[in-house]
Amino acid sequence: MDKVVISLGGSVIVPDEGDAAFLMRLASLLRRLSEEYHICVVCGGGKVARYYISTGRELGMTSEELDNLGIAVTRLNATLLLLALGETAVPAIPRTEEEAARMMDHRGIVIMGGTSPGHTTDAVAALVAEKAKATRIVNATSVDAAYSADPRRFPDATRFTTLTFRKFHDLVDKGTHEAGPSDIFDRLGAEIAMRAGIPVYIVHGRNVEEIENAVRGGAVKGTVVQG
Ligand code: UTP
Repeated sequence: MDKVVISLGGSVIVPDEGDAAFLMRLASLLRRLSEEYHICVVCGGGKVARYYISTGRELGMTSEELDNLGIAVTRLNATLLLLALGETAVPAIPRTEEEAARMMDHRGIVIMGGTSPGHTTDAVAALVAEKAKATRIVNATSVDAAYSADPRRFPDATRFTTLTFRKFHDLVDKGTHEAGPSDIFDRLGAEIAMRAGIPVYIVHGRNVEEIENAVRGGAVKGTVVQG
């Protein structure tokens, strides 16, 4: 069975827009897909993590402490998805990428959040994919594709159907200076995917059909990064 790692943005899990109904649809898709694929879902923290981090920053916390607050929220989101999935999910949330990769060899969907300070859950997803020798990474995010600039701020931005690893890397690298494209995937994650040669599918995470097509490596409305 092929292995696929999904990076599920916190902005997709709990944006406070019909979240329970969405999680029910996602859980039923994941249960179906788990009969054909070994799947790991890495959950992001979204605006709840940002809230805790900005409050901690006002309290003068160190960057490691702020990262640990963020990780705690990603693990809370992972717990929500794990409980929504019920017995199809592996009941324990792994704490490291190595542990997650090992768990992917067995049956059951692996659900996790962040691991250690200094990166985001996109990088965790790429590291798990590299260690597990996954076939592809699916970035289920809050925009429908990769664009040359944030389409919400720049309506004329170019939308990409495909990107090479190098162009993708340049795009997310640029994004660290101009908020926007950086929302697509983190730079470390893009670097790891490139060095491991694992294709990245970028799709709107609230569109479960898109997630299914991406997991299957089929045609998507979003962006495919490879080559
Ligand atoms: P996210 O992965 O959600 O970050 O982790 P993000 O990309 O900023 O947020 P989304 O995509 O909108 O959901 C939230 C925060 O948790 C810490 C980081 O501070 C990160 O910004 N974190 C997360 C870690 O330090 N290590 C991890 O492995 C994961």
